[in-house]
Amino acid sequence: MGGIRAMTEPQLGLIYDRVRLEEKAIMRAARKRGLRINSIDAKKICLDLTTKDSREFGHVVIQRCVSYFRGLHLAFVLKEMDIPTINSFDTSQICGDKLFATLAFIKEKIPTPRTFLAFTPEEAIKAAENLGYPSVLKPVVGSWGRLIAPLKDRESAEAILEHREQLSSPIFHIYYVQEMVTRPPRDIRAVVVGEEVVAAMHRHAASNDWRTNLARGGKAVRLEITPEFEELALKAAKAVGGGVLGVDMMEGPDGLLVHEVNSTVEFKGLSHVTDVDIAGKIVEYAIGLVKK
Ligand SMILES: Nc1ncnc2c1ncn2[C@@H]1O[C@H](COP(=O)(O)OP(=O)(O)O)[C@@H](O)[C@H]1O
Ligand SMILES: [Mg+2]
Repeated sequence: MGGIRAMTEPQLGLIYDRVRLEEKAIMRAARKRGLRINSIDAKKICLDLTTKDSREFGHVVIQRCVSYFRGLHLAFVLKEMDIPTINSFDTSQICGDKLFATLAFIKEKIPTPRTFLAFTPEEAIKAAENLGYPSVLKPVVGSWGRLIAPLKDRESAEAILEHREQLSSPIFHIYYVQEMVTRPPRDIRAVVVGEEVVAAMHRHAASNDWRTNLARGGKAVRLEITPEFEELALKAAKAVGGGVLGVDMMEGPDGLLVHEVNSTVEFKGLSHVTDVDIAGKIVEYAIGLVKK
């Protein structure tokens, strides 16, 4: 295997479960640089774990599965195969669970909204009462703002928590309750590639939603990188283990707060408001990780 690797130019693996604009852009960027890219549909993988053959993956892998659990399990396989992966298993795991990420921010003294953890609706209500209304209930695993609910008063909080308790997935019974940050109807998304913030945008919430996610109709607005959020975004990226990351920040009353770092960052919206070739930056970073 080592011989095969040494003889050939670096081969880039791209694992996906849905080909979005981002995956197409990464493939184009790799081809433009004369790199061999091996696109692998995760849904077609059937891997013998005993004889696992790492050659099909390449010398470095960009793991872009939409499914968090699928991507995480693949990242572990790649870690065991000693193949550098964007993002690593550890980074993917921390970013993929809001509780793990929050603890990583707290550990590194990164300003983040005050958050409580509980395992029953009864204790979650105490968290909301402690934080005051409105507060925010989030599933620890999830994206695109899905199932993130404002707890507006005790009555609605009890109703929402009762409903969560009925959901069958145990992940919804981890109650992550957070202070509702008073902020303008927008947040900041910065894309970090390795040691660099490559691009950023404001995300303005749609008029019919308090969440700023572009998946909920939020609007991407051009934003120049300033030292204030650049430094914070790099610190947050480092706190979760680094890689290619989307750092989300809110403009709170006392300054910026990091509320999330996304491990499989989407950049379709951002690419409309920046001239930076984000896919190109990702490919170049990936090649830099190939083991010599
Ligand atoms: N504590 C909060 N206070 C105010 N707004 C919040 C808070 N947490 C989340 N939001 C809003 O909801 C959006 C989605 O929350 P986030 O934690 O990023 O979850 P997701 O992974 O679903 O994007 C944020 O981008 C922000 O607009
Ligand atoms: Mg988010």
